[in-house]
Amino acid sequence: QVRLVVAKICELAMAAPGKALDMTELLGGYASDFVCRAVLGESHRKHGRNELFRELTEISASLLGGFNLEDYFPRLANLDVFLRVVCSKAMGVSKRWDNLFNELIAEYEHGKEDNAEDFVHLLLSLKKEYGLSTDNVKAILVNMFEAAIETSFLVLEYSMAELINNRHVMAKVQKEVRESTPKGEKLDLIMEEDLSRMPYLKATIKEAMRIHPPAPFLLPHFSTNDCEVNGYTIPAGTRVIVNAWALARDPSHWERAEEFYPERFLQEGRDAEVDMYGKDIRFVPFGAGRRICAGATFAIATVEVMLANLIYHFDWELPSEMEAIGAKVDMTDQFGMTLRRTERLHLVPKIYK
Ligand code: HEM
Repeated sequence: QVRLVVAKICELAMAAPGKALDMTELLGGYASDFVCRAVLGESHRKHGRNELFRELTEISASLLGGFNLEDYFPRLANLDVFLRVVCSKAMGVSKRWDNLFNELIAEYEHGKEDNAEDFVHLLLSLKKEYGLSTDNVKAILVNMFEAAIETSFLVLEYSMAELINNRHVMAKVQKEVRESTPKGEKLDLIMEEDLSRMPYLKATIKEAMRIHPPAPFLLPHFSTNDCEVNGYTIPAGTRVIVNAWALARDPSHWERAEEFYPERFLQEGRDAEVDMYGKDIRFVPFGAGRRICAGATFAIATVEVMLANLIYHFDWELPSEMEAIGAKVDMTDQFGMTLRRTERLHLVPKIYK
């Protein structure tokens, strides 16, 4: 999938040098394609399916993050008229997910690729052993798409946006990536195994996730037992929301908290080597504990390899009219379950020879 994105950018850059590309579209497409490929296997190639999954994921994320009247007036949720009026959009999306999965599961159950190794085949093969109903399978699949596409895309988009706004960091990452490849030889593609020689690239992605955690409040949790936190009693059955965004920007716990500063993870000091997989409460972009993100290492691998290739193969600039006035990418975020920039990201690639 990375190879396809690189080839597409090369093609567009050669066809219209200096023209800005819609990176939001390109990177969103990459995330949706790699997730669909892992989850659906060969069927991901079926025309229009990747786009459909991406569209449904985006609508679901905006619905989940919106204001929910029933959270404030729970009894309303039992009224039929409430469900029909207020939840009509959610029910419409739910129906579309359902139809898509019915089609998909029927195809797989009657398909020929019995030894395929994709996620849907695996789930269906375990259905009997684990007593999973078809609805269980559908729920797990929706989970995978909602959890994987938007989040991975956001880390990539924010990383590129921060790099273009902080050109000294861009220059440093680019130097590292280009110097860690064999001298005098232009690689076709940077592979996952090359990434171990790129600590600064890794720190840059980590820093992008610190300032812009894709899921700023993680997922809502539900306390199962009464417990005490900082002298407050939290009764069992409370909806608990963790503000990972605020934890990662707290100036009493971070040096230069508001600054995009990847060096913090590599230099000596209190921010050095902060873990991002749930061991350090200052920084929990994937959550922590039993419900920690199930795809964290997969996500990081796919994001790192894509970013390394973007930086290796191309030099990047803002559209000429923005460069001329020294403008920056607007980092204004919009409200939702995931943290998303309001504007699309447009950048101009120049092929590195
Ligand atoms: C950089 C990208 C990603 C970020 C930042 C991210 C972040 C998160 C967060 C914050 C949670 C909720 C944890 C909690 O509430 O404690 C979560 C859950 C989850 N994530 Fe990710 N995620 C990413 C990519 C992925 C990918 C690529 C996959 C699948 C391949 C995935 C699969 C899941 C699943 C299945 C859950 C639900 C786990 C559960 O509830 O038991 N995520 N993720």
